[in-house]
Amino acid sequence: MSQFDLEAENTMTANDYKMDLSVPRLQSLIQNIHWDKEDVKNLFEALVKRFKWSKQQTLDFDTWVAEILYTVETHKIDLNLKLGSKRCNIIELVNETNIDDNTLLNLLGEGREKDLEEILKDLSQQDGVDRCLIEKVREIVSAVSSALTVGQKKCLKDDMEEHLFDLCNAVKDCFGWKPRITQMVSWCFLALSKYSYLLQVCTGEGKSCIVAMFAAYRALKGKKVDIISSSPVLAERDAEDWSHFYKQLGLKVDCNSNKSNEEDLKQCYKCHIVYGTTHSFAGDWLRHHFLRKNVRGDREFHCVIVDEVDSLMLDKGLEVVYLSSKMPVMQYLNVILSRIWFLVCQHKTLDCGKRAGPIQSFIQFIQENTDICSETDVLDILRLAEDKGIFPKGFSEDTKHLNAQNIIKKLECVGKTHIVDFFRLIETKVPDYCFSLFSEKEDGTLTKLNRTNNEEVGDRHEIPLLFLKGGLCRHLFSDKQTLFNSVEQKIRKDLQFTSPEITPEDSHITGFQHLVYSKLRVWVENAFKATEMALGDEYIIQADTVVPVDYQCTGVIQSNMKWSDGLQQFLEMKHQTKVSNMTVITNFMSNVRLFTMYGGQVFGVTGTLGNKEEIEMLQKLYNDMHTCAMPSFKRRKLFEEEGTILDEEGEWLKAICRAVYEKVNSTCYRGERAVLVICETINRAMSIEKSIKESVQGVNLKLYTKNNSGPSEVTGKPVQARDVIVATNLAGRGTDLQVCGKVNMAGGLFVLQTFLPLNTRVEQQAFGRTGRQGNPGSAQLIMCASHFSMPVMVKMLTNVSLLQMLALLRRLYISLLDRDTEAQRQLTEALKLALKDGFHNQSWQEMRAALDHLLSCLDTLRKTNITDAKEARDSLVGERLSLYLTRDIPKMKKREDLFFDYLQLLDEMHEKNKNSKMLSEIVESMHECWGLWLLTRFDENESKEILKVRFEDAMGSVREHLEKGRSPSSAVSLYIRYGNALRLQGCFSESVEMYSMALEADDQDFIALYNRALSVMQQQERGYVSVALRDLEKAGKSVEHTMSLTEETLTNVVITGTNPPARHITGFTKQLRARLQVLKRLKLNINEAVNKLKIAHNNGGGVKVTECHVFLLLDIQSILLHLNDFANELVNLQSLGLTQIFSLDTTFSLTGYISKLFRGI
Ligand SMILES: Nc1ncnc2c1ncn2[C@@H]1O[C@H](COP(=O)(O)OP(=O)(O)OP(=O)(O)O)[C@@H](O)[C@H]1O
Ligand SMILES: [Mg+2]
Repeated sequence: MSQFDLEAENTMTANDYKMDLSVPRLQSLIQNIHWDKEDVKNLFEALVKRFKWSKQQTLDFDTWVAEILYTVETHKIDLNLKLGSKRCNIIELVNETNIDDNTLLNLLGEGREKDLEEILKDLSQQDGVDRCLIEKVREIVSAVSSALTVGQKKCLKDDMEEHLFDLCNAVKDCFGWKPRITQMVSWCFLALSKYSYLLQVCTGEGKSCIVAMFAAYRALKGKKVDIISSSPVLAERDAEDWSHFYKQLGLKVDCNSNKSNEEDLKQCYKCHIVYGTTHSFAGDWLRHHFLRKNVRGDREFHCVIVDEVDSLMLDKGLEVVYLSSKMPVMQYLNVILSRIWFLVCQHKTLDCGKRAGPIQSFIQFIQENTDICSETDVLDILRLAEDKGIFPKGFSEDTKHLNAQNIIKKLECVGKTHIVDFFRLIETKVPDYCFSLFSEKEDGTLTKLNRTNNEEVGDRHEIPLLFLKGGLCRHLFSDKQTLFNSVEQKIRKDLQFTSPEITPEDSHITGFQHLVYSKLRVWVENAFKATEMALGDEYIIQADTVVPVDYQCTGVIQSNMKWSDGLQQFLEMKHQTKVSNMTVITNFMSNVRLFTMYGGQVFGVTGTLGNKEEIEMLQKLYNDMHTCAMPSFKRRKLFEEEGTILDEEGEWLKAICRAVYEKVNSTCYRGERAVLVICETINRAMSIEKSIKESVQGVNLKLYTKNNSGPSEVTGKPVQARDVIVATNLAGRGTDLQVCGKVNMAGGLFVLQTFLPLNTRVEQQAFGRTGRQGNPGSAQLIMCASHFSMPVMVKMLTNVSLLQMLALLRRLYISLLDRDTEAQRQLTEALKLALKDGFHNQSWQEMRAALDHLLSCLDTLRKTNITDAKEARDSLVGERLSLYLTRDIPKMKKREDLFFDYLQLLDEMHEKNKNSKMLSEIVESMHECWGLWLLTRFDENESKEILKVRFEDAMGSVREHLEKGRSPSSAVSLYIRYGNALRLQGCFSESVEMYSMALEADDQDFIALYNRALSVMQQQERGYVSVALRDLEKAGKSVEHTMSLTEETLTNVVITGTNPPARHITGFTKQLRARLQVLKRLKLNINEAVNKLKIAHNNGGGVKVTECHVFLLLDIQSILLHLNDFANELVNLQSLGLTQIFSLDTTFSLTGYISKLFRGI
């Protein structure tokens, strides 16, 4: 059973002179390939005449005309185009009586490659393309072309020509085809340029070949060449595809995006040419300079070739790559995040769109939202309400003895009107507040219960609330800011810190507490964001991890990325996967910075360089950057069919299925085609695939949404008739689909874009999957209005006159559709007459007039709502772009400049401390301070100068502290690390001093306590047993506290999980249970030690310490059973400073025993 009965809707039948087939084709010439109305009439007249003259037709007129018109349309032929050896235009050709219809159709389908002169002429008409350059290119390409024809390079003049000759031959040997003139010209433009150069070469015209030839040329000249693609899929594809070519030229090539170990990377960077992504190049630079791993060896930034350069410089110029640094101490923040998550999940979005807070009793509500907070205040009000008969007698007395649950029970009997009265009473007590009570009707709308006139509110603080049954209510929030404020305040109230916080004035670098306070708001906002994000849209779950998807630009699943500021953790809590620790970002590199490192040697290619503003922006950003648009090697035949916007999702799906159905099925004038459906998100791709499967029979459906499953499934073999590929943007940019001849004969691959792409370039890239290499192809946008982003909708709506015009157009359209059938009938009649009557002027005129009338219906429809949507989108793109240079880039630059200063400082510290055993502790501590400083102190709105001064102050103080052997931040980890290092060297009293300093910062840190006890016991100074005992008892309590926090996190998150709860144990539960288990074992270990110390204390004896690795905290069996979870927890403890555990044996001391005895007496 079809979901949509598409067969039933397809009622078209061929009928003599009915014009059902040919009229849409005539209209399409105007609509889709922009013919002039007059020309359409002339062509039609010529066709009618030809039909009459020609005796060979086996087809009816309508089908015959439709077939020819369809060929005209798919080959995008207009009147200026000269066809055949006689160079006639299409009308002249149709009038030609001595060519038969087959020859006519073949001539229409022919595509000639442009020659060098045509290409150079086109180039010389472009602004900014240097005449001398064109002359030089003419010389090189014509010489090399001739040399290639004769197969000898004797007549070539210089080194450059010889190189081009060799490169072309190498391409021919490897692929069996030789580079086209446009590819040779493009190569010359790049090779002759001394500075950065960006080339636009149409989609599908072989940019990979241009890139490889240019890279090889530079490499042969002794330069190291980096090639950057927009996704790892494309980088790996091209490195692989072109490896033989490079090998033939004696060049080594590799790709850096698929390497996971350092040794492989080092080998990779030794190659002449390295393919990769901005992520991998920037990441490796950071590995080299920040982590000092030396992966790049001595490779310099000689030259970069950027494929899909617009995507990487414009759409992703601000994208920043960083290496995450391990800071296990951040795991403690997960308790706070879980509290936020728990609270946020109790909020609800009502049907009317308003957000409502957690369910609570009225009493709680009043306490939380007004100054009435003490119990006595509340009781006073309740008593008053009771006296006034609002609440039943004895109510307030009962509430004193009852718990919250019972109070709610009591309140159940209190009706709506009583509650209204109650709040009126409250208002008299708190004159600064007024309460607006609402109830929700079944249809989701809200009705106000207590106040109809807004003026009553005056300048009081209005608090809206939703009345529920049983004495319960929810706080209502009319805007996001009040909602965020409310959650932030609630969390803030419950925060407690174990350590005394150093006030910001005391120190430049502060620790946890300041971090929490400064980030709380962002975390709250991100928690709400996480509730709104959808699995399969912005992210997927892969191997029990939340992985972001770059759905707007490339559709790539970004396995190495994590969201920042808690968003990642909230999504993990939402799906109860393992929760990662937040990272403090200590190193980063933006795409803009990466490209500038190549100092004027940035070469780029793309199919879509962008509009004038976009190009100008790039030129401002990168000095001396020239650009040029290469003409296509053949005439481009790709055209866009008139798109549609459907209001409702069901209609939208139906329209998509109908479009697919129409294209894959043949008609009497064309064969079956293939379709590529590009969808916004993975979820949409899946639902579209499902709909097509249910409603379009006999198609070969393929889903392409995941880059990590390999693209070969869709790109490996040519696309056949009735193939339907449903994909995300992953099949957009760069994807090279081969299309079989049969499909090209029928009009080529049809690309259906099912959403409004981010910008025109992304849109054109998607459309560029068809109409490649001179083949025909068409594309269409079918969008759903409800999917538009808020800003686009707002933009479309703000233009009221546009809206009015739209409404008018719609009305007009409907009336025109009625007239359409009448107009068509008139045309059929006039046509019959013209065909019958011969060449009467009058009958021809009638026919032309009827056609004119029919076609004029289209004029009014030219501006559609698709244009509005695109205009709204483009104006947003423009606004964004204008902020790019003036706001975004400078802000980013400030941060990056400081990072480079930091790197310099790091170098100095490495140099100074290169012989110190504490080097790694010093470096880690610096990273920690720098990361925290950025997170809490960096203000991107401050001037560069002020920031620099602040940075230098802060880092100066860090340095000073470190030089004195003191921790530069209030985080305790450095002291513990120092203490550990000293203890291992046998310097026990110094190590005790370090642990004590850690405890000054946080007196509850169980690792500092545990380790100090160990040092003290190893030192064995007088009275050590009681000192160690004290520390260990305190450590035990602190471990217990940590356990209770962990349990709280577990409960907070599990409660918010799926309803009913998931049957299987989730990754999150496993992780936290492992953590609890490890803490429990530590607690047991401490208890045992405490017992031994007590015995020793009582006997006046001592203890003997046996140390072992912290991994032995658990027995081998449990580790093996839950290897990953336990190992992670143990590694975490280890990096927090608990590197070893110990067990104790009591020792007997006669003197101690005796002195104890005496003291006892
Ligand atoms: N000179 C040539 N002769 C024949 N085929 C060619 C030639 N150059 C490239 N091709 C083929 O054209 C197809 C498209 O090439 P390629 O993917 O490099 O195009 P592109 O310009 O990078 O496209 P896109 O803009 O989509 O990235 C490939 O299948 C390639 O093998
Ligand atoms: Mg490409």
